[in-house]
Amino acid sequence: MQISSLFKYVEQLQGTTPWGNLLDTGTGVKSLQWISTLKTDSWSAITASEAMARSSKESFPGTMRAQDRLIVGNWIDNELLKGEQFDTVLVDYLVGAIDGFAPYWQDLVFERLRPLVKGRMYIIGLEPYVPIVAQDEVGQYVGDVGRFRDSCLLMARERPYREYPSDWIIRHLHRADFNVISGKRFPIRFGERFVHAQMNMCKQRIARLQHCGVQANVATAMLEQVNELTERGLKLIAKHNGLPTGNDYVIAAEPKR
Ligand SMILES: C[S@@+](CC[C@H](N)C(=O)[O-])C[C@H]1O[C@@H](n2cnc3c(N)ncnc32)[C@H](O)[C@@H]1O
Repeated sequence: MQISSLFKYVEQLQGTTPWGNLLDTGTGVKSLQWISTLKTDSWSAITASEAMARSSKESFPGTMRAQDRLIVGNWIDNELLKGEQFDTVLVDYLVGAIDGFAPYWQDLVFERLRPLVKGRMYIIGLEPYVPIVAQDEVGQYVGDVGRFRDSCLLMARERPYREYPSDWIIRHLHRADFNVISGKRFPIRFGERFVHAQMNMCKQRIARLQHCGVQANVATAMLEQVNELTERGLKLIAKHNGLPTGNDYVIAAEPKR
């Protein structure tokens, strides 16, 4: 299992402070695999998606302890983990995914999580790139991929993710009564896996378009666009040794006392 540099940075920020009881607010395969490597007293992992719960469980290394919980729930439900508190709270790519499960509710997420946080909260996210038209060819290409992918999702009657920038996160942390302890951006270098994964996602949606009132010739043209984007991506990867563009971020926050 490969631990991402973002999780390694969180470990560095945590230092010698015990993880204690840990809450993963938007769980998935990667965060749960990382959590399995930490010395926690217990962990609770939340997802709004049954499918995500299943895949996280299937990919979990080893066996869950009796005190560990994987719960399918939605943060808009005020009863979810009501009255509980956690020493460490992880918010790993949760905010960008909220639009799929609680649309237009992002501004309330940190207020909702605030009573659950006893010690440290770590927020990991992706700086938005879809609405930004970059000036360089790599940035422009990755933006084109994102815009095309979101178009496919919308035309297939699905909701795309909506990423939020780190300054938006910091503003909303302050509003929800958190002190921001640190924030750091991590430059991204996308590879072939990114291109193929995004294009596969597009192909699956295009296959469904005729059931969503889209004309067959539009779907055919969109498949041609998939080929063009794949070809352009692979050429750029060879030229630039990957696709260096955009940033992830890690923000650490604590409740104001
Ligand atoms: C992009 S995935 C997170 C990735 C995950 N941490 C990993 O390492 O693979 C987003 C997660 O947030 C969850 N999520 C989004 N909105 C939610 C909500 N309103 N309530 C609960 N979970 C939510 C999704 O169900 C999913 O589990």
